[in-house]
Amino acid sequence: MTDATNQGTDSSGVSVTVNGREIQAKPNELLIDACERNDTYIPRFCYHPRMTPVGMCRMCLVEVDTGRGFSLQPSCMLRVSDNMSVNTESAVTKKAQDGVLEFLLINHPLDCPICDKGGECPLQDQTMAYGPGESRFIENKRNFEKPIPISDTVYLDRERCILCDRCTRFADEVAGDALIHFMDRGAKTQVNTFPEEPFASYFSGNTVQICPVGALTAKPYRFKARPWDLQEVMSTAWVDSVGSRIKVQASRDQVLRVLGVDADPVNWGWLSDKERFAFQALNSDSRLLSPLIRRGSTLEAVGWGEVLERVADALAGVDPRRIAVIGGARLTNEAQYAWAKLAKGIIGTDHIDAQLGDGLPAEVVLGLPRASIDDACRAAGTIILCGPDPKEDLGALYLRLRHAVLHQGTTLIELTPQRTGLSDLAAHSLYPRPGTVGEVAATLVAALQDPDLHNPDFRPGSAQKQAIYAAAKDISGPVTVVLGRASLAESAAPTVEAAVALSALEGVSFLSALRRGNIHGALDAGLSPGLLPGRTTLASSAERFANVWPQVPSEVGYDSSAILSAAKAGEIDVLFLLGADPSNDYIDGELASAALANAGTVVAVDVLPNDSITAYADVVLAAAASTESAGTFTNLEGRVSICEPIVAPAGVSWPDWMIAAALADRLDSDLGLDSPASIRSELASVSAIHSALSEEVLAASPVDGVMLVGNGDIEPPRSTGVTSPLNDRYSLRLLVTRRMYDNGTMLRHCPASQGQIAALALRLNPIDFEKIGVREGATVRVESARGYLDMVVRVDAGVPAGTAAVPWGTSGTDCRHLIGVDALVTDVRVERL
Ligand code: SF4
Ligand code: SF4
Ligand code: FES
Repeated sequence: MTDATNQGTDSSGVSVTVNGREIQAKPNELLIDACERNDTYIPRFCYHPRMTPVGMCRMCLVEVDTGRGFSLQPSCMLRVSDNMSVNTESAVTKKAQDGVLEFLLINHPLDCPICDKGGECPLQDQTMAYGPGESRFIENKRNFEKPIPISDTVYLDRERCILCDRCTRFADEVAGDALIHFMDRGAKTQVNTFPEEPFASYFSGNTVQICPVGALTAKPYRFKARPWDLQEVMSTAWVDSVGSRIKVQASRDQVLRVLGVDADPVNWGWLSDKERFAFQALNSDSRLLSPLIRRGSTLEAVGWGEVLERVADALAGVDPRRIAVIGGARLTNEAQYAWAKLAKGIIGTDHIDAQLGDGLPAEVVLGLPRASIDDACRAAGTIILCGPDPKEDLGALYLRLRHAVLHQGTTLIELTPQRTGLSDLAAHSLYPRPGTVGEVAATLVAALQDPDLHNPDFRPGSAQKQAIYAAAKDISGPVTVVLGRASLAESAAPTVEAAVALSALEGVSFLSALRRGNIHGALDAGLSPGLLPGRTTLASSAERFANVWPQVPSEVGYDSSAILSAAKAGEIDVLFLLGADPSNDYIDGELASAALANAGTVVAVDVLPNDSITAYADVVLAAAASTESAGTFTNLEGRVSICEPIVAPAGVSWPDWMIAAALADRLDSDLGLDSPASIRSELASVSAIHSALSEEVLAASPVDGVMLVGNGDIEPPRSTGVTSPLNDRYSLRLLVTRRMYDNGTMLRHCPASQGQIAALALRLNPIDFEKIGVREGATVRVESARGYLDMVVRVDAGVPAGTAAVPWGTSGTDCRHLIGVDALVTDVRVERL
């Protein structure tokens, strides 16, 4: 498979006659696609436009004449050729279709009344349209134990399987998790997993969506509804920043299912299981259903009038420099703008930050040449992965990058601190020691300018330098840097240095790998100190905004770390947590707890209770979730797409933008915004990058969304000259990385995720394992300058020697005890207990 869709790429036509009508196909296009594009549907089971055709089911047999007379051929395996003649309706074709269906039904159970696929089943539909009226098979059908769970979320009914090879192909070819296979032979062939290898894939839900029958079903949807009972809206996945396009389906005012939509520039229909099943958290019994006020040690439900009065009282007469806002990445673009206007334009504080100290400075995300996902996946290009493992952080992006490298010949060079889900496909994995990615990137750029680069006799020096030179030699075509923060145990500075160094590459562009939901929308809305909406700064646009907002902050405010430090010092009187949980989600848990304890009034705006709310919030404003309020989402490329509500807000919760508007009202001001559309209209009037984003433009691109273009007036970052300190020979450098499933609030409330949140373990390279002299699974003490933890140790050759790797936010011990927020890097000693 060489292109994205199995369809040809050139639009100059190939002439094909279909049922006596001449059509124009694309060169190299599959016959099944060419016919469909020209309004002739050929039935199929195994064919999927995003996977290699295999010709398994024979349902797409049609009569084809390529000059030697008509014969039956599978149209999913046949590329068009000039003067090809096709008959999809002939008696021979119909007899073939009839026969294929009769054979498929021989062993197929009469399960329709109890089968989740009923009502949306290609086997039902195609049997009605193309199949025999009745079966001649009177013998016993195959029977299997049913259903069997093959993972925490997927069930398998083997006798319903028609052996189409879609699930097995997806797992192997698309996800790279070949964990579901065909077993046995002949009439006994079955699809299954091996007993010791469950279908533990981050992408397993895709197989349920593409299974053409009810053989694979997802636990969260089993027996919940029939397709005809479902309402459906188009929306955008909100759990990470890829912004995958989804259909959200609901019945009786409850979201029951999320399906991937094939948006060509974004997710191709694929979703990570986190994107697919996270909606369960929004149905949780724990949802915040009404505003709450703390009385004594408990949070008591109150009405909106009382709670807004309480917040207004807390804000009354307070110096804006003693008011701060942390969070905002959960919100829609419209709510983000409303909160930016409330905080900066009405309250007058610039202490607002949507990142929780684990991201990158705004100028790094907004100020570098931008790349789209398609740019990164260009066939002859090079991807430099300088950030986290996309498989863990940005699942749907991982699938796109994987396809580009595996099937399109894109070169991948990894500047990641350890093995990633893409390492097997990488041309070079340089694995810079934590804290040194800037130096390695600078050496890579210098190597490209070295006249000796292609001199076969030249020896660049150290083994690492030789590896860097080898990588430089393989850089070809346009370069896209996928840029993010790989480790939470080091500051953002090394990544910034790498970005600055790589920005010197000719024609380079950058694709952000920040992971938090709508973080890019938040930065575009100005939810960052020193920023104003539209990728602009206080320094350059304060005067312009002063004409449209009641006021503009006079000085650049604090980021999240500085806000928490100020709060800890008793300098913050009102702290808003806008969908943020510093207690659980900030790198320095002790600072977060002290800050929340010492802040005057903590006001949380959220959909679910979290650790910060339970322990510290004085006031809780219950917010409507993304499936309950209208708005838009901006993904990591800068692509804006619609989120449509499908269910009513839980309890008496309000959309986030409405809470901002009501608060402004209580502060005797007027946000001047009364609907998401009115917010978009105002945003378009104040922001050059949003100026073309009219309702008509958005409506015209319901699937692909609309790309925001340009960097506004954000200057690219500059080098600060920081370099990584050396560590002593007894220490290891700590690497703390995120996994797809951690103990974040949303996943803790999502039943489908429960089995996936792993226990904490230290992972060491076999060399370090030997040096310390421990057994696999032993408990060791890991000690940094800040504190120590006792944890289980595992051997992992994917962790470079000299590095101690720990996952973030897993169940059990809290690795934040080891990390200092100000530290450039974190060194640890590991000792046997
Ligand atoms: Fe019926 Fe389709 Fe289910 Fe088979 S897979 S039992 S045909 S609904
Ligand atoms: Fe095809 Fe479904 Fe069987 Fe997999 S389980 S081979 S997708 S019918
Ligand atoms: Fe062509 Fe299955 S769709 S053989």
